[in-house]
Amino acid sequence: MVLKPEDILRIAREEAERQRSYRYRINVCCSSGCLPFGALQVLKAFEEAIKEFGLQGECRVSRTGCVGTCSVGPVVLIEPGGYLYQNVTPENAREIVKSHIVSGKPVKELLYANEAFFKKQLRLVLRNAGKIDPLKIEDYIAAGGYSALIKCLTKMTPKEVIDEVIASGLRGRGGAGFPTGQKWNFVAREKNTPKYVVANLDEGDPGVFANRTLAEADPHAIIEGMAIAAYAVGAEKGYIYVRAEYPLAVQTLREALKQARSMNLMGKNILETQFSFDIELRLGAGAFVAGEETGILASIEGRRAMPRPRPPYPATSGLWGKPTLIQNVETLANVPLIILNGGSWFAKIGTPKCTGTKCFSLTGKVNNPGLIEVPMGITLREVVFEIGGGVPSGRRFKAVLVGGPSGGCLPESLLDLSIDYESLTKAGAIMGSGGIVVIDDESCMVDTAWFFTDFCVDESCGKCVPCRVGLLKMRNILERIMKGEGRLEDLDILSELGEYVRDVSLCGLGQTAPNPVLTTLRYFRDEYITHIFDKRCPAGKCFRSQVSMKEAP
Ligand SMILES: Cc1cc2nc3c(=O)[nH]c(=O)nc-3n(C[C@H](O)[C@H](O)[C@H](O)COP(=O)(O)O)c2cc1C
Ligand code: SF4
Ligand code: FES
Repeated sequence: MVLKPEDILRIAREEAERQRSYRYRINVCCSSGCLPFGALQVLKAFEEAIKEFGLQGECRVSRTGCVGTCSVGPVVLIEPGGYLYQNVTPENAREIVKSHIVSGKPVKELLYANEAFFKKQLRLVLRNAGKIDPLKIEDYIAAGGYSALIKCLTKMTPKEVIDEVIASGLRGRGGAGFPTGQKWNFVAREKNTPKYVVANLDEGDPGVFANRTLAEADPHAIIEGMAIAAYAVGAEKGYIYVRAEYPLAVQTLREALKQARSMNLMGKNILETQFSFDIELRLGAGAFVAGEETGILASIEGRRAMPRPRPPYPATSGLWGKPTLIQNVETLANVPLIILNGGSWFAKIGTPKCTGTKCFSLTGKVNNPGLIEVPMGITLREVVFEIGGGVPSGRRFKAVLVGGPSGGCLPESLLDLSIDYESLTKAGAIMGSGGIVVIDDESCMVDTAWFFTDFCVDESCGKCVPCRVGLLKMRNILERIMKGEGRLEDLDILSELGEYVRDVSLCGLGQTAPNPVLTTLRYFRDEYITHIFDKRCPAGKCFRSQVSMKEAP
C-alpha cells in the first residue's frame, strides 16, 4: 500500500471518530506483569460477556499495555471515567459488564482505590500505555502517532529537528544523561556513510522493567522516535537491540514493524518522500554488559558483547566503523512529543538542567510497587511514601537503592533529594536505566552490597583487570565480614579498592559497580562495624554470619 502523509492524517481522523462512537472502552492489560495472572482469560471473558449482553456495537474490548499497577493484575481500565479494576478474574469480568456497562454502576469493591499512586505521576512517555492496543497501528495513529514524523518529513529540515531536540534539553535515559540533541549533531555532521541508528532495549538491570513495558505497550512510539532520529542524522538503517528474554516485547515490536511497513511508514521513500529508513530487530543473549554501547555494537556485528575503549565514539565510528547513533528507547519515545509540542514546552517540565520525566520500576519493600513515570526533580520521599505508599507491614524504611545493581543505597536522611542526574551522582548513586528498590529494616546493608557486587562480578566481561579482579576481591572481603571474620582495616581496603575500580575500569560496568559498597560504607558504616566487632548481623539476615557463629566453638 502506498500512502501519503495526508492518508495517515485521514486514517487518524477516521479511527479517532470510530473510537469515539463507542459508549465504553474496556482495556485489558495483557503485558508481562498481568499475563501470568490470567489476563488473556480475562480478555476472553469480557469479549464473551459483551456478546452475551449484545453490546458489540457500543463497547470495544481491547488488549493493552501496562497501566503501572502490575502487582494487582490482571488490571482492567474502563473509559470513559478512568475506572481501574484490579485482580480481575474471568468470573468478575461478567459481573463488571453487567453492573458497570449495562447498569452504569461501577463495581466499587473491585476498583483500584489507591489514587495516590497516580497523583504525582506525569505520564508522557507512557502516554498510550494502557490506552491503546499495541498490536494495532491504527490505535497509535488515532492517538496522534506518526504525525510528528510527518511534520519532520514535510515541514522541517534535519537541522531544525535537531535544534528542537536541543531546545528541549532532553538527556539520555539509558543512564549517563548525555544531551540527546548534541549527540544527534555529532552523527549528523559526519560525512562517512552509511549511518545507523540503534535503539538500546537491553535493560539488563535486575528488577528493572520500564523499557520492556514501553515496548510491550507502545512499540510505535519507539519506532517513530527512531525514524525521526534517522531523518535528523541521515541514517537509512536502524537496529533495535532487545534481549531475547523479552519475548512479548520482541513479538510486539516485530508486529509493529510489519504494520509500519505495510503503511509505508517504514522502508523505501516513506510516505512518498525522499526519506528511506528500515529497522531490524537484533536479539541479545542477556548479559548486563551487552547494554553498554560498544558492547551492543560488537553484539550486532556478531561478536561477543565486550566493550572497547572510547574514543572513537560510536558517533564517529560505530557499526562496521560507520557513524552510529545509540539511544535508549525511553529517550526515543520522548522525541515525537518534543516535535509536536516544541522543545520549549518540554524544557519547562522537570528541572532546568534535567528536563522532562523519567520512568522507574518501583520495587522492593513498598506498598504500591509498579511502573511509574515522574517529572525530574521529584523527591525520593514523594516517590517512596506518596506514590509508593511507604513500607508495608509496619516495618521501618531503611534505604532506597537508585540506579540498578550499580546504583547507590541512600539513607532516610537523603529522602528529600531531588531525582536528577547531578543530585543522584553527588549522593553516590546513579540514575541508571530506571530502578528504585525500597529496602526496609529487615534487610542487612552489607548483604545488600554483597548481592549487587556478586551480580557485577558475574556480569563483568573480564576484559580489564580492575573490574575483573578488583570486584572479586571486594566481594570476597564482604563475604569475610558476613562470616564474622572481618577486620576493621577491611573497611579502608573496601573504600580504596572501590574507588580504584571506579576510576580506572574500562567501561561503565566497572566504573559504577562499586557504588553499592561505597554508599553503604558511607551511610551505613555502623552495620559493617557491628558485623566486625560484635560478630553479628543487626538485621539477622546474614546467613553466612549465622552459619559461622553456629560453627564457632
Ligand atoms: C554495563 C552497562 C549496561 C548498560 N545497559 C544499558 C541498557 O540496558 N539500556 C540503555 O539504554 N543503556 C544502557 N547503558 C548505557 C549505554 O551504554 C548508552 O549510554 C545508552 O544506551 C545511550 O543512550 P541514551 O543517551 O539515550 O541514554 C549501559 C551502560 C553500561 C555501562
Ligand atoms: S569494566 Fe568490567 S565489564 Fe567493562 S570492559 Fe572492563 S572487565 Fe569488561
Ligand atoms: S503489566 Fe498489567 S498493569 Fe503492569
